[in-house]
Amino acid sequence: MNTNKKLETLDEKLKEIANLGHASKLMSWDREVYMPESGSKHRAESISELSGLIHQKTLALDENNLLSDLNAARKDGGLSEDEAVIVRETWREYEREAKLSEEFVRNLSQLTSEAQDVWRKARANNDFLQFGPTLEEIVDMQRKKAEYLEFETTPYDPLLDGFEPGMSTEKTEKLFSDLRDFLVPLIDKVSDQSLDITHSITGKEIRKEDQKAFNKEILEKFGYDFQAGRLDASTHPFTLGSQDVRITTRYDKSDLLSSLSFTLHEMGHGLYEQGLPDKNYGTPLAREPSLGIHESQSRLWENHIGRSQPFTKWLTRQMQENLQSVSDELTTDNLYRELNTVEPSLIRTEADEVTYNLHIIIRFELEKALIEEGLAVENLPAAWNKKYEEYLGIEVPNNKQGVLQDIHWSQGSFGYFPTYTFGNLYAAKLDATIREEIDTVDEQLSNGTFDEILSWLQDNIHKEGMRYKTEDLIENVTGEPLKTDAFKQYIEDKYRGLYDI
Ligand code: CO
Repeated sequence: MNTNKKLETLDEKLKEIANLGHASKLMSWDREVYMPESGSKHRAESISELSGLIHQKTLALDENNLLSDLNAARKDGGLSEDEAVIVRETWREYEREAKLSEEFVRNLSQLTSEAQDVWRKARANNDFLQFGPTLEEIVDMQRKKAEYLEFETTPYDPLLDGFEPGMSTEKTEKLFSDLRDFLVPLIDKVSDQSLDITHSITGKEIRKEDQKAFNKEILEKFGYDFQAGRLDASTHPFTLGSQDVRITTRYDKSDLLSSLSFTLHEMGHGLYEQGLPDKNYGTPLAREPSLGIHESQSRLWENHIGRSQPFTKWLTRQMQENLQSVSDELTTDNLYRELNTVEPSLIRTEADEVTYNLHIIIRFELEKALIEEGLAVENLPAAWNKKYEEYLGIEVPNNKQGVLQDIHWSQGSFGYFPTYTFGNLYAAKLDATIREEIDTVDEQLSNGTFDEILSWLQDNIHKEGMRYKTEDLIENVTGEPLKTDAFKQYIEDKYRGLYDI
C-alpha cells in the first residue's frame, strides 16, 4: 500500500470512529434531555458497548502497521501539513488508548455510567455515605488508569493530559497558587461591600416560554446557526455535537439572568463546534486541541462579552422591547451591577467571575490529593468544607451544596476541573488581543453587532482545530504563552469600577 492509499484507509477508519462517537453523544444528550428514569440501566449498557467498540476501532488503527507507517512517513517529512497534523494527533491518541485494555475501558465506562445514578440519588438525599464507596472505586480505577498510562512525577499528570494535552500538574500548581494569592485577599475586601441595585431582574417572574423565546432570539443575533444546532433544557447545561450542535440551558421562572448566562456560555461552545472545519469531520483537524481552549470560547462570550458594559446597554434595550414584564425603569447601570455582583457562594456553576476560579482551585487541590493518596474518600467532605471556609470565607451547610454538587467525579473525570480555569485564563488573553486588533469592539457590542468578533475567533481559533498544540496556538494568536496576567488585569480594571478595591 502506498502512502496515499494508507491515508485514505486512515480517513475511513477515523470516520467510523467518529460515527460511533456521534451515536454515543446523541444517547448522552437524550439521557439528559428526554430519557425517562427507568431507561438509565439500558442506556448505561448501550453507551458502554459503544465505548468498547470505539476502543477496539481505535486500536485497529494500527492494523498492519497502518498508523506506525504513516507516523514514520510524517517524521520523514513525507506528508502535507494537514496530513501531518492528522497523523501526529491520531498517533498521540492511539498511543494513549493502546495502553488501556478493552476490559478496563468497558469496566470504567460501566462503573461511571452507574455511578452517575448513585451520585444523583446521594445528592438528592444529601447523603455522602451513599456515594462514598462508589467514589472510592472510581478513584482506585483512576490510579490504575494513571499507572497504565505511565507517569514520571505524579499520577495526576496523565489524567490531566487526557483533557489538557501538554499541561503538567507542576505548571498548573504554579498558575493556580498565583491566582489564589491574587483572589483570596481581593474577595475578602469585596465581601462586605454591596452594590446599589434598585431594579433587580432576579426575582421577577418571567414565564419559561418567554425566557425560551428570548434566549433563542439572542442566540440568533449572535450568529448561532439553528440549521446546525438546537437549544433545549437540562438540569446541567452542556453542549454536544459538531454540525448537529445540541446546547442546553435551564430555566427558572424567577431567574432570567441565569438562563441567559447558561445560554451564552453553551453558545460559546456551540459556535466553536459550528466553526470547526466540517470538511475534516472525524479527524483531529475538526476537534479542539484541549478542553481549556473549548472553555475559553464559552467564557469569552458569557463573561468578557456577555457581562461587559457596552453589551449590557444593548441587552437592556432587548429586554425592554421583548419581555413585557421588564419595566422601562431598568437601566444599563442597574443590569451591569446585577450581572457583575461578586459574592462568595457555595455553587460553582452560579459563581461570579471573581470567585469562580477558587471553586476550581479547591477541586483541583482535592482531587490531586485523592489521586496521590494523601486524602481518603471518607475525609473528603471535611476537607472540602475546610477549603471553602479558608478560600471563600463561607460555611458549607450540607454535602448537597458542598462536595456532592458536581457530576464530574461520578463520571470519572479526574483532571477535568482545571480546564475551566485554563479556559478563563485563555479567554482573558484572547479578549485583550481582540481589543488590540479590533478597535471598535465596545461600539459593536453596544449595537448588538457580533459578526466581526465571531469571524476573528473563527479565523484564529475555530478553523485551526488541532493544527497547533494548545500552548503554541495561544502563543501564535496572542503573542505570549499562558500566564495569569491578562486575567488579573481584566478583573482589576473591571471591578475597580464597581467596588472599592
Ligand atoms: Co463550558
